[in-house]
Amino acid sequence: MKKIAIVTSGGDAPGMNAAIRALTRLATWSGVEVIGFQRGWEGLLHNNCMKLDSRAVSGILHLGGTILRTSRCEEFKRRAGLEKAAETLAKNDVDGLVVIGGDGSARGANALSRYTDTLMIALPASIDNDVYGTEETIGFDTAVNTALVEINKIRDTAVSHERTFIVEVMGRKRGFLALEVGLTAGAEIILVPEVKYDREKIYETLRKNAAKGKRSSIIVVAEGIGETRKLAEDIERNVNTEVRVSILGYVQRGGSPTARSRLLANLFAEKAIDLLLDGIGNRLVGIQRGEITSISLEEACENQKPLNIDMLSLAERLAT
Ligand code: F6P
Repeated sequence: MKKIAIVTSGGDAPGMNAAIRALTRLATWSGVEVIGFQRGWEGLLHNNCMKLDSRAVSGILHLGGTILRTSRCEEFKRRAGLEKAAETLAKNDVDGLVVIGGDGSARGANALSRYTDTLMIALPASIDNDVYGTEETIGFDTAVNTALVEINKIRDTAVSHERTFIVEVMGRKRGFLALEVGLTAGAEIILVPEVKYDREKIYETLRKNAAKGKRSSIIVVAEGIGETRKLAEDIERNVNTEVRVSILGYVQRGGSPTARSRLLANLFAEKAIDLLLDGIGNRLVGIQRGEITSISLEEACENQKPLNIDMLSLAERLAT
């Protein structure tokens, strides 16, 4: 293993920079050269890369985003794009490629592995936490805490005005963020894309809460529900409560990574470099029951990470 490359792809996540730093320093420490492709897979299509060494990655540990930039790249999903990317890897004599990103990035790495001998390692980093093969992704903890800080403030207004707030958090397809944020924020109701919800049940819960003397409520919904504003109107029509909507949006993607996100970035990077130094590729690194592990990229891409639905019932019982 003489040279590795790093690429960050898909939505940025806090801790990606920590992962770039750790990968670069650990590889350099083992005498391996490092380059970084810029703007996600686009960098591999256009051969946009930069040399990385220990000094190039200093001062970035605490920064959100990614110094390598990122993108969502449609061209890369087609055969011609994958062939071009494989050519770029060969042209740069890259022995191992570490792809930092979410489930789409892991799928991209898996697809590219069919066109190149370069060893692929996927390092899961996403605020969505929806990558199979790891209980937690880099950046998830930061996003949960960012949302929590905002909801604490919203709760002040909800209580003072005796209102119902619907807080929408990110997660187009999956509800991991909504579930963990909702539970830890003490939300009265949590809605995730994986579970069909019943409007009547929501009205009933809010009415019961009011009868018990609960004058304000927080409903945390995942973006993937797709009808946050309509839900607010319907609740106002059917329950005697004033409803406000707060869409947290992109504040959840940025910001300085928490200690937990940085720790995962460092531990995942160490595992990635160890695998590559042992000549092992096409793996996705993760954490399972407290242990840093890896599974085949194929397995990671073929499976869907299950949401712990029991947590919904726990949140329900805690919000009484
Ligand atoms: O995958 C991370 C994520 O923030 C999702 O939660 C969200 O649905 C999506 O990215 C938004 O994507 P974009 O950055 O392309 O608007």
